Amino acid sequence: MKIDAILTPAELPALAQRDLRETLCVVFDVLRATSTFVTALHNGAKAIIPVGEISEALAFKKSEIGNRKSETILLGGERDGVRIRAAQTGGTDFDLGNSPRECTPEKVRGKMIVSTTTNGTRALRACVGAKTVLAGSFLNLATTAESIKRFQPTEVLLVCAGTRENRADEDVLAAGALCELLEVGSSRRNDGTAHRAVPTKKSESAEIARQFYAQAKSDLAAAVCNATNARRLLAIPELRDDVVFCLQRDVFPLIAKMEADGAIRWQAV
Ligand code: MLT
Repeated sequence: MKIDAILTPAELPALAQRDLRETLCVVFDVLRATSTFVTALHNGAKAIIPVGEISEALAFKKSEIGNRKSETILLGGERDGVRIRAAQTGGTDFDLGNSPRECTPEKVRGKMIVSTTTNGTRALRACVGAKTVLAGSFLNLATTAESIKRFQPTEVLLVCAGTRENRADEDVLAAGALCELLEVGSSRRNDGTAHRAVPTKKSESAEIARQFYAQAKSDLAAAVCNATNARRLLAIPELRDDVVFCLQRDVFPLIAKMEADGAIRWQAV
């Protein structure tokens, strides 16, 4: 199994020219889009529809009125980290921001969430031609690794969504942690049993991610909290707890898979 990685969002547009038909992409936007989606699915959301623009989210909801009960569709996402408000949309307040802690069972159970975020949802959309697209996070990392071992794809592409135009350390760290899990004898599941070994061949960028994680893993929180995205969230009192929430390891044993209709749904392994 080949493992490659995209470490910055500047590389995303080139994915449109790349043949991804045999590739399994894992998209990481640890702070916070993919962590939020995994949490929402764990708490009973039916599906997440990632879209790039606010206008697409509004249009999706409008087009679905009549097809299904529009009240089962929630609008979610952020700009500059905070919930999208009526002033940005011409009159509609979004139902949710991009905080995983907002996605409680009471709010999301049975709901479809159309979400637009600065980097995460765009990174997911950029992978649309891939054989398989998974939303990855520390929250479901071991289960994601296990499912990759089961799928045995020809190539795994770790896609780090980044922050605005720049690399986000927490995404690269999660990509590196997944590399480590995919390597022979490198980790154990929560129940103590070993992950199956799969021979891997890493690209230079995947190796950079793996080494970055290896250096930081003894104090992952410190490494993440020093990085741009965490500092931005830590400075917003109502969002600061999202950082520690998103760093929890393997609390949600599910894979979040983007299906052919563009919706991300929950799958058990
Ligand atoms: C993004 O998609 O860029 C993020 O998840 C940003 C955020 O949640 O603040």
